[in-house]
Amino acid sequence: MDNRPIGFFDSGLGGLTCIPHLMKALPGESIIYFGDTARTPYGSKAENTIRHFACEITDFLAAKDVKAIVIACNTVSAVCIDDLRRRRPDIPILGIISPAARRVAGLCDESNHIGIIGTKATVGSNAYRRKITEYRPGLTIHETACPAFVPLIEEGIIANDIMDLTIKYYLDRFMADNGIDTLVLGCTHYPLIRENIAKLFPAIRIIDPSEEIMTSISAVLRERDMFSDASQGLRTFYASDLSENFIAMIHRIFRGTGFTVAFKSFDL
Ligand code: DGL
Repeated sequence: MDNRPIGFFDSGLGGLTCIPHLMKALPGESIIYFGDTARTPYGSKAENTIRHFACEITDFLAAKDVKAIVIACNTVSAVCIDDLRRRRPDIPILGIISPAARRVAGLCDESNHIGIIGTKATVGSNAYRRKITEYRPGLTIHETACPAFVPLIEEGIIANDIMDLTIKYYLDRFMADNGIDTLVLGCTHYPLIRENIAKLFPAIRIIDPSEEIMTSISAVLRERDMFSDASQGLRTFYASDLSENFIAMIHRIFRGTGFTVAFKSFDL
């Protein structure tokens, strides 16, 4: 039993899409979340910049005495999970790509055409392709980067025509040319536009890694006997810029109460 919090982090508000799944499955777990809203987006930055930011945040969460760190960011998971694990071998560090890749490999066979969408860094790393084919070689995988999605989502431009047009701009040809039937939302911001995507491509099966990560969290806590025995966890949300949309998103998740919001800055 271990009532210390679980640390989560992302470049911004995207990683918050993991939190409702955690609250539903393990409501007694406490959370410390960090969203790097002042330095978002990560996905179009150089690898060494992403690594530097991720190391700073990992150290910050470790100093808060978290019992595990969840990289609620595909970009960081793709670029530098091994560096973070080497930096803090004392804390279990969970990436978001492996559990989703395992799910895809379990659901799909050679007849499927799998699409991965993500940031430039995630797609450029080929991390999804490598992981999925490790679990199941021979699957057909197509990847494309959608770099304008994250800035729009961080701005709260979601349920409207601008977002729909942007989705069509990136995905119309990609889906049609490659006959995609299964689409992985390879960025934690994208579940926030899942409904837009489902409306525009109703026949597609959508896989959400923000949901799949729960399997890994539960497995690690079980293996190490680290489940909390509290009836309700404490939730603290740090951001490097307390943007209106970040705060609004947390209010939406918790319906207004039961959390603390705090500021934590790093050098820009
Ligand atoms: N939400 C993140 C991801 O899953 C980062 C997006 C970004 O900052 O570009 O990749």
